[in-house]
Amino acid sequence: MKQSRFLMCPPTHFDVEYVINPWMEGQLNAANTRLASAQWSSFHKLLSDVADVALMPPVNGLPDLVFTANAALVHRDSAVLSSFRHPERQPESRHYAEWLTADGFNVRTLPDGIRFEGAGDALIDRGRPLLWFGHGFRSDLAAKPFLERWTGLEVQPLRLRDSRFYHLDTCFCPLEEGLLIYFPEAFDEASRSAIESRVPADQRFALSDAEAVTFACNAVNIGKTVILNHASPETAAWLTSRGFDVVPSGVSEFMKAGGATKCLSLRLDEA
Ligand code: ARG
Repeated sequence: MKQSRFLMCPPTHFDVEYVINPWMEGQLNAANTRLASAQWSSFHKLLSDVADVALMPPVNGLPDLVFTANAALVHRDSAVLSSFRHPERQPESRHYAEWLTADGFNVRTLPDGIRFEGAGDALIDRGRPLLWFGHGFRSDLAAKPFLERWTGLEVQPLRLRDSRFYHLDTCFCPLEEGLLIYFPEAFDEASRSAIESRVPADQRFALSDAEAVTFACNAVNIGKTVILNHASPETAAWLTSRGFDVVPSGVSEFMKAGGATKCLSLRLDEA
């Protein structure tokens, strides 16, 4: 048994088949599916070196099911199931619920009409008893009291304001020991101040616009390992200076759908 456990879904049926975020514009059927498959396998192998990786079966007609981060918010033995904003992704929830239930999770469902996209928008801090909750594009602020009640964690809402960064995990990545990499301009003023007052300056690293669009914030952190699509020399140096091992895993084909390594995986052991 490794220290962490993740869920992934093979890209058998992956492609860009509709447009629900700015990254997908102009990319209809443009993913190189053989390359996508190779990139997914390389990431799967890198993740498997440091964690146990469970797989759920792919489903024909659900190309975004590969983005398992959107299945649910996992906390201990419960999982707050996603309720997707776009009709194209709504049929995914049933498959995620089935898998999570079979795996032993207590699956909780939000009241009808409250949208919530799981670990795409709800990220547990690794140094404080706090849940960061992104809203404004996919998830509704109305989910906040439920997340609070069901996790027992304080919830800090963060309003997203740049449609390229429509999920919190595209622009914000809590790391071990309370460290953080983030793209400040993706947030409204109040949210940015909340981040900066909760996380001391020497514990956070702000990315430039030029780097944020490489999805450097969409990183997977397991212990001292950080797996991400790409890191600039500056970001890599900051991470290294904090003791992290930076592991690049190119996922260009999945970025055409608006997701990178973090989106392609769901951490299942969240204490
Ligand atoms: N095409 C997917 C969508 O727009 C990408 C999801 C990326 N997942 C994530 N956790 N950011 O919903």
